[in-house]
Amino acid sequence: MKIFSGSSNKELALKIAKQLDITLSPLEIFVFPDGEKRIRVGERVLGQDCVLVQSTGMPVDSNYMELFLIVDALKRSGAKSVKLVMPYFGYQRQDHIFRDGEDVSLEVIAKTLESVGITDLFSFDLHTPKIPELFKIPVIHLSALLLFSENIKKEFDLKKIVLVTPDMGGIGRIKKISELLGNIPFATIVKDRDLASGDIKDSGLDGQVDGKICVMVDDMISTGNTMADAADLLLENGGQKVFAYATHAVLAGEASNILQNCKIGKVIVSDSLEIPKEKEFEKLEILSIAEIAAKALKNF
Ligand code: R5P
Repeated sequence: MKIFSGSSNKELALKIAKQLDITLSPLEIFVFPDGEKRIRVGERVLGQDCVLVQSTGMPVDSNYMELFLIVDALKRSGAKSVKLVMPYFGYQRQDHIFRDGEDVSLEVIAKTLESVGITDLFSFDLHTPKIPELFKIPVIHLSALLLFSENIKKEFDLKKIVLVTPDMGGIGRIKKISELLGNIPFATIVKDRDLASGDIKDSGLDGQVDGKICVMVDDMISTGNTMADAADLLLENGGQKVFAYATHAVLAGEASNILQNCKIGKVIVSDSLEIPKEKEFEKLEILSIAEIAAKALKNF
């Protein structure tokens, strides 16, 4: 097996390669003055099983285009298979038509990934469990939830906490982590978004948080508003302290400032996306999914 890294998340690719006891294979990614890219595989891959690690966070389109070009270069160089480890799946939230006249971005991306020739897709904590059904190739849906549950066990007295999903869409996720922690109680926040702007209009709480340490778990943090607003609501409803876990730290715009200055005590995320130095903040803690990805690659 040979493993290659795109430019979006090289640190994670290095960690996965280390777990697999191999080194990253060379890949030349040349950027022309106008931003176009040219890829060259720096090693013979004829008849080889290849792995590409590339997350598709910001800049989303540019990371996708680079991914397509790398897969093309590997296929043209005779790779037998190209397993794509895309820990964060960009465009996954655009999974249906919300208003008449819209595109379905996720479907466009799924078709393109298949047509460039990836043979298997490994991704983490997909926004909906229905995403694999869009593909004809195998999609291995991995999760950081086990990692988070182990961390929660280490950090908290389980009798004192209540799990919270800050979004109704995360109900399956919160039930799963509750099970992993011995069926501890959970609460749900129901939020209403403006379909045109995506802004949160209103939110309400379903469940008991009074006197409890609230541990929120979500798939991603983008602007940080969901988590920050949820923390306010939980404290208003008697929650003692609030902590936040999320697999994908998208951290768009002012998210880092919002999270650092909100009422959440600590924000724990995975390294599914590389966090640039300027987006790091004091409350942030990063757990690695490298071992989970490496194990899945070994077993599949
Ligand atoms: C929503 O459906 C997701 O699960 C997240 O709650 C959401 O994407 C977070 O977005 P933001 O951080 O921008 O509020």
